[in-house]
Amino acid sequence: MIGSGLMGHGISIACALAGYDVTMADTAKEILVRGLERISVDLMGLVKNEFVTEEVAKSTLARISTTTSIAEAVRGSKFVTEAITEQIGSKKELFKDLDRLCPEDVVLASNTSTFKITEIASAVSKKSRVVGTHWWNPPYLMPLVEITKGAETSETTANKAKQFLLDLGKAPVVCKDHPGLIGVRLHAALNTEAVRILQEGLASAEDIDTTVRMCLGLRWGIVGPLETLDLGGLDVFNNAYDYLSQELGERFRPPTLFKEKVAKGELGVKTRKGFYQYTPESIESLLKRRDEFLAKRVKEMQSQQ
Ligand code: NAI
Repeated sequence: MIGSGLMGHGISIACALAGYDVTMADTAKEILVRGLERISVDLMGLVKNEFVTEEVAKSTLARISTTTSIAEAVRGSKFVTEAITEQIGSKKELFKDLDRLCPEDVVLASNTSTFKITEIASAVSKKSRVVGTHWWNPPYLMPLVEITKGAETSETTANKAKQFLLDLGKAPVVCKDHPGLIGVRLHAALNTEAVRILQEGLASAEDIDTTVRMCLGLRWGIVGPLETLDLGGLDVFNNAYDYLSQELGERFRPPTLFKEKVAKGELGVKTRKGFYQYTPESIESLLKRRDEFLAKRVKEMQSQQ
């Protein structure tokens, strides 16, 4: 693990929790001491929240060592993850060193939020082994990791990243090398709209957040946005978004794929085809899963009130 800051120390915990030995590198000893302190505090939090036992926390901490030498950090490693400061020059310099220090079968992964993997890989001779693995904070709890394939990332490298993340108990998804990937782009659409509603004086900050926590976010825990469209009917949402775009602006205009599907009669569960294909059994199972999840979650929320 290169970088021991917010993400680096958290990714180190996630890997060590799954039984991997981790060497965490940073530029100075004091920074690494701080990183290890953060790891201890976070592990204590996991024990307090009954996510792991005290023994597991202790053995997890024991699997993490630190160094200020990149050469020492990567010695014997099969998978190197970079989470250093978001500066393209520093990242390219680091990847150039990693390329020199690591045997050809070692995967070099970047946690960058903004830079293209193809650009970072340009500093490396064997570009096929460079991949993006974009973690979410806190890495030891958030299951999603977005795998980004650069222009020259090989299928073998992407598969190795996927297998490694599955071994860690994560939920990897794959995305093309593109600003915002999947998560940041979806997040941005919702966040900017939340601020617009507040700015227009239409609702309070608390009520906007409550709307997401008590409805949208709750349901998204089990049914994604494309499944939601399929369940409600693409024709219904298409009309609704046409109206919203007339009233509120272009950003709500349904994209062409949406309109094409409506024109072809692929309206979602009611025609057995929308963004997904359905059978009567799969529809029933989706609704059952949704209701089981919501019943459990709402009961938990009520008991905490
Ligand atoms: P941070 O500033 O907390 O940590 C970066 C660490 O890298 C620092 O400890 C710094 O001393 C170290 N560092 C800088 N240059 C180095 C080098 N050449 N060799 C070794 N260590 C070096 O930053 P943070 O938030 O952990 O972000 C790291 C990366 O993860 C960035 O690329 C960021 O875009 C990405 N990221 C951040 C997320 C977040 O929520 N903060 C979420 C997902 C990705």
